[in-house]
Amino acid sequence: MSQELWTAVDTYIKESMVPADPILTAALQAAVDAGLPAIAVSPTQGKLLHLMARMCGARKILEIGTLGGYSTIWLARALPAGGRIITLELDPKHAEVARKNFAAAGVAGAVEVRVGNALESLPKLVEEGFGPFDLIFIDADKANIPAYLEWSLKLSRPGSVIVVDNIIRDGAVIEPDNKDPHIQGVRKFNAMLAKEKRVSATEIQTVGEKGYDGFALLVVNA
Ligand code: SAH
Ligand code: DHB
Ligand code: MG
Repeated sequence: MSQELWTAVDTYIKESMVPADPILTAALQAAVDAGLPAIAVSPTQGKLLHLMARMCGARKILEIGTLGGYSTIWLARALPAGGRIITLELDPKHAEVARKNFAAAGVAGAVEVRVGNALESLPKLVEEGFGPFDLIFIDADKANIPAYLEWSLKLSRPGSVIVVDNIIRDGAVIEPDNKDPHIQGVRKFNAMLAKEKRVSATEIQTVGEKGYDGFALLVVNA
């Protein structure tokens, strides 16, 4: 079992279910051209986010971690007329690339990009009375996943869905003494989930063109 095979199978799946889309391809290319890291969700994962948003009938979506807006476009395309997505991004250069991508994708009217540290943007959203969000996608700095869970719960309602990316990281998540702040953040998040009565959750390991990783899926309890 190898990266080569995982990538080949992703390519095979894409042929049937995620046909090449010039707008999404251009969005990824614009991010590459601007020197952004190539860490967006893969096409099959982007489609999964899109399907999740449609499955829960999301009208209001919150994303933490925009990068060049690739996942944001997948999510925005799941919104009904009048739906909105707010996406939080620390790096002004990333946000600028994303805004151009949203305009080119024809979704700019449904997307609000907020530039700044999400740890500061999230309390502002609460103060301004935003939410509850139907779907929240957490995909920024992994050390702060525990804090992002807390803020997400304040911006949720019973039935809200929370998806967290990159929670397996080649299996390193099972190493208690791993010093990587990313791994420590995910492990603290998992310890919170073990006790957290407000949500039901599971985690799924994935392989594909982005390697071996996984995502957490949470629903807010009534
Ligand atoms: N969701 C994107 C990928 C996001 S990559 C996609 O799949 O297309 C992670 C992003 O989080 C990066 O752009 C990074 O700049 C941003 N980020 C990192 N720390 C952050 C913070 N504290 N607040 C907001 N954004 C942050
Ligand atoms: C990284 C971040 C991501 O959100 C991701 O999906 C893959 C890698 C990173 O920071 O390395
Ligand atoms: Mg990610």
